[in-house]
Amino acid sequence: MTRCYNFCAGPAALPEPVLETARDELLDWHGRGLSLMEMSHRSPEVVGVAERAEHTLRRLLNVSDDYAVLFLQGGASTQFAAVPLNLLGDRAGADYVNTGQWSKKAIAEGKRYGQVNVVATSEDTNFSTIPPRDSWQLDADAAYLHYTPNETIGGVEFFWTPQAGVPLVADMSSTLLSRPIEVSEFGVIYAGAQKNIGPAGLTLVIVRRDLLGRADPRCPAMLNWQVADDNDSMYNTPPTFALYLAGLVFDWLEALGGLDAMEVVNRRKAEKLYGAIDGSDFYANPVELASRSLMNVPFTLADDALDKLFLQQSEEAGLLNLKGHRSVGGMRASIYNAVSEAAVDALITFMQDFEQRNG
Ligand SMILES: Cc1ncc(COP(=O)(O)O)c(C=O)c1O
Repeated sequence: MTRCYNFCAGPAALPEPVLETARDELLDWHGRGLSLMEMSHRSPEVVGVAERAEHTLRRLLNVSDDYAVLFLQGGASTQFAAVPLNLLGDRAGADYVNTGQWSKKAIAEGKRYGQVNVVATSEDTNFSTIPPRDSWQLDADAAYLHYTPNETIGGVEFFWTPQAGVPLVADMSSTLLSRPIEVSEFGVIYAGAQKNIGPAGLTLVIVRRDLLGRADPRCPAMLNWQVADDNDSMYNTPPTFALYLAGLVFDWLEALGGLDAMEVVNRRKAEKLYGAIDGSDFYANPVELASRSLMNVPFTLADDALDKLFLQQSEEAGLLNLKGHRSVGGMRASIYNAVSEAAVDALITFMQDFEQRNG
């Protein structure tokens, strides 16, 4: 068996030890004579797996009891609607920061439910920057401030947390678990699982408990965080296998030393890759230095006529999914937790060889 290096933006690479455990336990989970996938979500086994996953996640992120941890479905995109439905209450609207394609989607969905005040946008720099905090036009009556700490497509990341005086809501889909964060600075954190958490099909929401119980009466029960919390994320049948895999990913992270240890490796990987891009006239990354994503590294070739060849030859070399997002073109290497330093080294070597042959 040959496993390639996978730079997909999501669903993304999963840690090999996690896949091995899942393989070994697939047909007969812990001697029970059936797969975990085949068990009732109300069984003590599955409830135990869910509780364990939650506890490990709480330890990894240092989440206090002031916060509910919810395992939901529908992806981060469903939370674009769930956020206003749960939080607007009697407020007319909310503040949003626009730093790229995912911010835009959150804004478009938010507009269905209330007034959206776009407090700042970096569209004028083609989303290669983060608008300076002192330029933001905040509304003191906003129900919340929403932002996207890491724009998966543009490769732009906040390395600071905006303070607003209203609950801060963060779409952390492509940054959560890549490094430590201070959960107490946020009202709500949400993320689709398919980057650093586990497989697609699971959505994580971490919400401060005082923000529960404000949902619009028309909010579907499936989107109501209070309902999810009251039912321990089992109001309906949860994605049990995805939850089990996420729990294995959390165990893997903890065994490696948690998020402090992960950050050291992730920073080293990113520094190497940006270093290789900046050290060449053949490759370029458009993002301002202070906001370059640790997880998603878009880059272009000096001549885009070579894109096809680059993708074909990188794939032949076992380096998969380097095609940039269709909205921006070029390349993108997503270097999430499960993408090893060896994978990044192999990519850099390939890039240098490709430049020598074609530069
Ligand atoms: C930052 C960000 N937000 C939202 C989404 C949408 O997530 P989902 O596909 O889980 O709805 C993505 C997906 O890549 C993302 O990267």
